[in-house]
Amino acid sequence: FGLMGYDPAFLNTANCKSAITFIDGDKGILEYRGYPIEQLAEKSNFLEVAYLLLKGELPTEKELEVFTNLVTHHTYVHENVKSFMDGFRYDAHPMSMLGSTVAALSGFYPDAKNIRDERSREIQITRLIAKMPTIAAFSYRHTMGLPYVYPSNELSYVANFLTMMKHIGGAYKVHPVLEKALDVLFILHADHEQNCSTTSVRTVGSSQVDPYSAVAAGVGALYGPLHGGANEAVLRMLRDIGHVSKIPEFIKQVKGGEGEKKLMGFGHRVYKSYDPRAKVIKRVADEVFEVTGKNPLLDIALELERIALEDEYFVKRKLYPNVDFYSGLIYEAMGFQAEMFPVLFAIPRTVGWCAQWEEMVTDNEQKIARPRQVYTGATRRDYVAREKRT
Ligand code: SDX
Repeated sequence: FGLMGYDPAFLNTANCKSAITFIDGDKGILEYRGYPIEQLAEKSNFLEVAYLLLKGELPTEKELEVFTNLVTHHTYVHENVKSFMDGFRYDAHPMSMLGSTVAALSGFYPDAKNIRDERSREIQITRLIAKMPTIAAFSYRHTMGLPYVYPSNELSYVANFLTMMKHIGGAYKVHPVLEKALDVLFILHADHEQNCSTTSVRTVGSSQVDPYSAVAAGVGALYGPLHGGANEAVLRMLRDIGHVSKIPEFIKQVKGGEGEKKLMGFGHRVYKSYDPRAKVIKRVADEVFEVTGKNPLLDIALELERIALEDEYFVKRKLYPNVDFYSGLIYEAMGFQAEMFPVLFAIPRTVGWCAQWEEMVTDNEQKIARPRQVYTGATRRDYVAREKRT
């Protein structure tokens, strides 16, 4: 490619250079700022991991307390954001509402354009992390025809979100096991190197636009069924299979097709072994199902995984369960509608998008994204007068 002027640094924004997240796809390793994801999932909490991803170091008690208060006290959105969201059709997908509303925030915070100002960047990033759960919950309640529930500054990040989502006349009480489970799931989804949506944030952000517009691009990419929409697609796939006895037929269709039918929740651009997040999610699933009762689709999922991991087609292509294979089963058992699954991905990934955006914007070598192409069109030719064309 070098001969054809292909820029080996590719997008230039991704730079393929970052100090935030390390993945070894062959060994199934994922580390945030050098800390193994397994240890963070077991010992940390989401806002502490958010601080780590943003600042590069784990916070002291005091630093975490200040950061947590900052986030939990910026969860409100301007009242006009509600009227903006009321404009959507009653059945608009929550992801389309989320992406549009995040983009609209750039109009509510014009000072966000000062991307060279460190303090302004910190304020915008705090707002994005703090308001994502509020906008997500408002989107859900809009689609259910329910009144919006305002955030509470007294609750934890996850408990506040769950309460805004499910609060029906004050009856909803956040179960500690479910709160902890969602916090772990948020940790697992917080960042993942230069994936499709993060590259979108870096690409759009490289034009020096405000972070709301850049993050809105990430929401759009994550909405796709091959990316953040996969966990929603896994549940549909398991329902379509319907029973463990139907698995061999389904596997046959996947293998025999032209790639139009995929084993959703399997495979990865980088992991050519088990996605380390999927291992942790399986443990979280057991804990959640203790409280909610087992998701009846779990048996199909476990048997599908067992068969696929022994099948030459998948083994040869190094296809293993990824982060999305089990997450949807947990979300459904917790009472979330399938349309909310990619939204549950976008909330924590906002931290990774912001950390990657901040790293890119403060990289002095940063240039605007301008990937080159490999031209495959017509060679040079002269214009032919209309009357002479056949
Ligand atoms: C996420 O990048 C990230 O980090 C993303 C993510 C993150 O945290 O941001 O990890 C989140 O997006 C996870 C992936 C969720 N998507 C899905 O589960 C959808 C199902 N998976 C596939 O669509 C697919 O595996 C991709 C999109 C994830 C990766 O696609 P690639 O790059 O084409 O996979 P590949 O190059 O490894 O494929 C090798 C072969 C191909 O077949 P052949 O051309 O060699 O015959 O395996 C086939 C693919 O067609 N293949 C599959 C398959 N995934 C790849 N065949 C059946 N089922 C699948 N799931």
